[in-house]
Amino acid sequence: MDLQLSGKVIIVTGGGRGHGEAMALALASEGATVVVVDINGENARNVEAEILRRGGVGAAHQADITRMADVEAMAGAVRQRFGRIDVLVNNACAAIRRIPFLEMEAAEWDQVIAVNLRGAFNCSQVVGRMMKEQGAGRMINISSFAAELPAAGFAAYSASKAGLEALSKTVAGELGAFGVTAVYVRPGVVETEFTKAGHAGEIGEKMRSVIALRRFGTTEELATVICFLASPIAEYINGGPVTIDGGKYVCQF
Ligand SMILES: NC(=O)c1ccc[n+]([C@@H]2O[C@H](COP(=O)([O-])OP(=O)(O)OC[C@H]3O[C@@H](n4cnc5c(N)ncnc54)[C@H](O)[C@@H]3O)[C@@H](O)[C@H]2O)c1
Repeated sequence: MDLQLSGKVIIVTGGGRGHGEAMALALASEGATVVVVDINGENARNVEAEILRRGGVGAAHQADITRMADVEAMAGAVRQRFGRIDVLVNNACAAIRRIPFLEMEAAEWDQVIAVNLRGAFNCSQVVGRMMKEQGAGRMINISSFAAELPAAGFAAYSASKAGLEALSKTVAGELGAFGVTAVYVRPGVVETEFTKAGHAGEIGEKMRSVIALRRFGTTEELATVICFLASPIAEYINGGPVTIDGGKYVCQF
């Protein structure tokens, strides 16, 4: 199936590692021009180099998405170099740790919300204005299973993802008339640097036991879904959730 991604200009935030890296490589292999945005410039440049090594088209941009000025500079540079922005993947997320709600410092709460929610707001607003002008565009927001069923010890993370889902629906509702769509994706558990420590040992076994397929997902599986959602043929999937979790809590065991 031709996903018609050839020549599409796609920004992936947090593209320097984990899911973002896998998405960037997969989208580039479908012919998209991929802009890898990350606060870690070295990681972003490494992913850009890998895209180029594989014969794709890509660029790296170091930016802290919590800073509006960084986001404006990044989006302006992308438009100047590539002429337009077809798809924005809001994927970047703050590092998190399990901590009981009553012990969480406000600064930690703020940091998670700043990256996961305010960062997505910054990118969506700046790029959304450009997309509205273009009369077309797609936003893909990487949420989490935790938005619907929070995990104890991850209050800020779960709240940030629930907020991101509400933002996605608002953007879809407000911008649909201008040809701009938004969708949010809820991955279940996927093994990345972000999750590795928390998935070890007994807790990992418990987590697997509630997944119908009894295994965690892979970054490649998620990246494949993102390629489909970025494609113009998936335009009618708008607003609501796309879940990819191997069947987590689908029934009682
Ligand atoms: N791995 C999982 O099991 C899982 C499950 C559900 C949802 N998710 C979601 O998938 C997405 C990617 O997760 P991951 O596991 O690849 O995480 P990760 O920590 O490996 O990658 C996150 C990336 O975001 C970048 N980043 C952090 N703060 C930034 C900032 N201020 N500005 C720009 N970039 C910044 C980091 O440098 C890093 O490259 C996240 O939104 C996460 O919530 C992951």
